[in-house]
Amino acid sequence: MVRKKAESGNYDGLIVRSDTKVTAEVFAAATSLRVVGRAGTGVDNIDIDAATRKGVIVLNTPGGNSVSACELTCALISTLARNVAQACQSLKEGRWDRKLYTGSELSGKTLAVLGLGRIGREVATRMQSYGMKTIGFDPMVSAEGAKQFNVEKMELDEIWPLADYITVHTPLIPQTRNLINETTLNKCKRGVKVINVARGGIVDEAALLDAIKDGRCGGAALDVFVEEPPKSAVTLELIRHPAVVATPHLGASTNEAQQRVAVEIAEEFVALAANCSAEAR
Ligand code: MLT
Repeated sequence: MVRKKAESGNYDGLIVRSDTKVTAEVFAAATSLRVVGRAGTGVDNIDIDAATRKGVIVLNTPGGNSVSACELTCALISTLARNVAQACQSLKEGRWDRKLYTGSELSGKTLAVLGLGRIGREVATRMQSYGMKTIGFDPMVSAEGAKQFNVEKMELDEIWPLADYITVHTPLIPQTRNLINETTLNKCKRGVKVINVARGGIVDEAALLDAIKDGRCGGAALDVFVEEPPKSAVTLELIRHPAVVATPHLGASTNEAQQRVAVEIAEEFVALAANCSAEAR
C-alpha cells in the first residue's frame, strides 16, 4: 500500500520497487497521477487495469536485474546438484555426513529453460559452460532464434521427458500459471529438479510437494512463492522439505541490480518528461 494515500493526489509521478502496492484505491486517490514507474521487472504490484482506466502510464525496467536473477538461478542449479545448502546445514549442526550428500555432475545433464527472454538466455549460456545440454520453449522465440544461443527449441511435451533440470523464466500470466503441475510433472523424468526464480504461481506448489514426497521430483530451488511472505501450510511444508532449497525472493537483490533499476527508471522518467514538453511546444 502507498502509505500516504491522501498525499498521492499531489503527485504527477510515482516510482515504486516491489513492496509498495499501487492499488485501484491509490489510483482513485491520485487525481494528478500521470505515470507510475516500477524499479524492477514485474508490474504485479501495480493494478494495471486501474492504471489503464485512468490513463496512467506504467513504466518498468525489464533488463536492469536480468543478470542478477540469472546468476541466482545458476547458483541454485549448482546448489541442487551438490546438496550445498543441506550439507552446510548438517555440518553447522555438528554432523559429518559425506555419504548422505553425494551429488551429481551437471556436465552432460539436460537443462530445460522455459521462457527464452533475457534471463532464460543468460541462464542457458552460463550453464552451457558447465557442459549442460540446453533445450527450451518460448512461443515468442523461433527455433533459429534459440539456436543463436545454443538452445534447442522444442514443444513442451517433448521437453518434459528429456529434462534433468527445469528452470522457468516467464512472467506469471494466465498461460503460465501452474505451468509445472501434476500432469506435467508426471510426464517428466523421475527425479527431475525444478527451479523457480521467476514468479510464484508458475509452479503449482501442492503438485510440486507431492512429486517431491514420492520421488518424481528430485529436488527444487524456489526463490518465489504464490504468497510472499509465504503463509499457507502447503508452501511452508514445501520450504521446509529437505529436498528444497528456498530463498526469500532474492533474484534482483544485488547492489548492482538495485542501482541499475533505480537509474533506469529515473532515465525513463526524464525521457518521458522531455517528450511531453516537446509535444506541448
Ligand atoms: C522484479 O520483478 O523486478 C524482481 O522479481 C525483483 C523484485 O520484485 O523485487
